[in-house]
Amino acid sequence: MKTIQTLDNLHAHNKRVLVRLDLNLPLQNGHVSDITRLERSLPTLKELVSQEAKVIVMAHLGRPQGEDKSLSLAPIFKALKGAMEPTPVFFCEASHGPQVKEAIQALHNGEILLLENIRFVDGEEKNDPAFAKEMATWGDVYVNDAFSAAHRAHASTEGIAHLLPSCAGRLMEEELKALQLALDTPTPPLMAIVGGAKVSTKLPLLENLLPKVNTLVIGGAMANTFLAAQGYEVGASLYEPELLDTARHILSKGCDILLPEDVIVAKSLEAPSPITRLKEEIKHDEKIFDIGHLSCTRILDKMKGCHTLLWNGPLGVFETPPFDAGTSSIAKGAARLTKEGSLRSVAGGGDTVAALSHAGVLDDFTYVSTAGGAFLEWLEGKPLPGVMALKRHD
Ligand code: 3PG
Repeated sequence: MKTIQTLDNLHAHNKRVLVRLDLNLPLQNGHVSDITRLERSLPTLKELVSQEAKVIVMAHLGRPQGEDKSLSLAPIFKALKGAMEPTPVFFCEASHGPQVKEAIQALHNGEILLLENIRFVDGEEKNDPAFAKEMATWGDVYVNDAFSAAHRAHASTEGIAHLLPSCAGRLMEEELKALQLALDTPTPPLMAIVGGAKVSTKLPLLENLLPKVNTLVIGGAMANTFLAAQGYEVGASLYEPELLDTARHILSKGCDILLPEDVIVAKSLEAPSPITRLKEEIKHDEKIFDIGHLSCTRILDKMKGCHTLLWNGPLGVFETPPFDAGTSSIAKGAARLTKEGSLRSVAGGGDTVAALSHAGVLDDFTYVSTAGGAFLEWLEGKPLPGVMALKRHD
């Protein structure tokens, strides 16, 4: 059987440990505006530092085309240095070549070196074996703690893992455990909530989830396509007419699928005068922006009988109150059940995390993934190259 080694198997003392982190943090006016991903990476760094390893961190920021200095990791370095006080943390302004080699040679046990944006190197995203080989000369062992970049087969997430003794960091380990408990070995009944704008972007995910879940809740603008497929008027709402047959096919699969019974409509987001409508009552010039009270009650009643919840995608335009009410009420309900101990709740995806944070329940879920794209691909059942590359025969 193939398994993944963890930091438990690594004797890091005196070793050069090459660590891939996801420090793709949001910036505002050149400063980091949210350090969640950095904070979640700290246990691995602290453990390695306490073992007196020489820690070399590789990370990316954005999607640079070549050496785009506006995507330098310099602001990330500041945040990392602050978070790791009093550990000495250094920044290498190169991400390959002799400058990196020299900086690593100068590193002492218990110190951290952050390399410049690894995507500045042409070979990174191409997973160029020559670049992976160069990386392999920088370290004695490789630790991947970047679950949220594990859907990328890049040199620093995939190629390098084949060239050095490799293991998962604590965050990667935690993400894999939480996600496995949510979908591969959940305590049934399992409810999945899938929201967001488009059915087209969530089709593979729906196909993968349907046979595994007991109840599927569909919300957000993608629910409009399902309502239209059932013959309801969705007015001027966003929906995908070309996917009506696909939606009907999904609905015919026999799983318990909850669509909105009532919705909150308005003529526009700019001048909202929200009206609650039953799904049969939507007028031709109205747009659906949220699920209604009846729908919330139905979802929460069903959730009370479930033991596992997997959530990806908001149920309405939560960024624009009052259309946050549906998403927030479901989020608070899930948080309550989690606190009471009857529900294991797992959520992921950028918008979902923002919606839970907006509802004030981010810390009340059993697990919130740091990943966006990787969480989606995992929900789609796709193998994640960064995870696969860590697997070894026992
Ligand atoms: C993310 O922010 O989800 C990860 O850092 C991956 O970034 P990418 O989509 O640019 O590969």
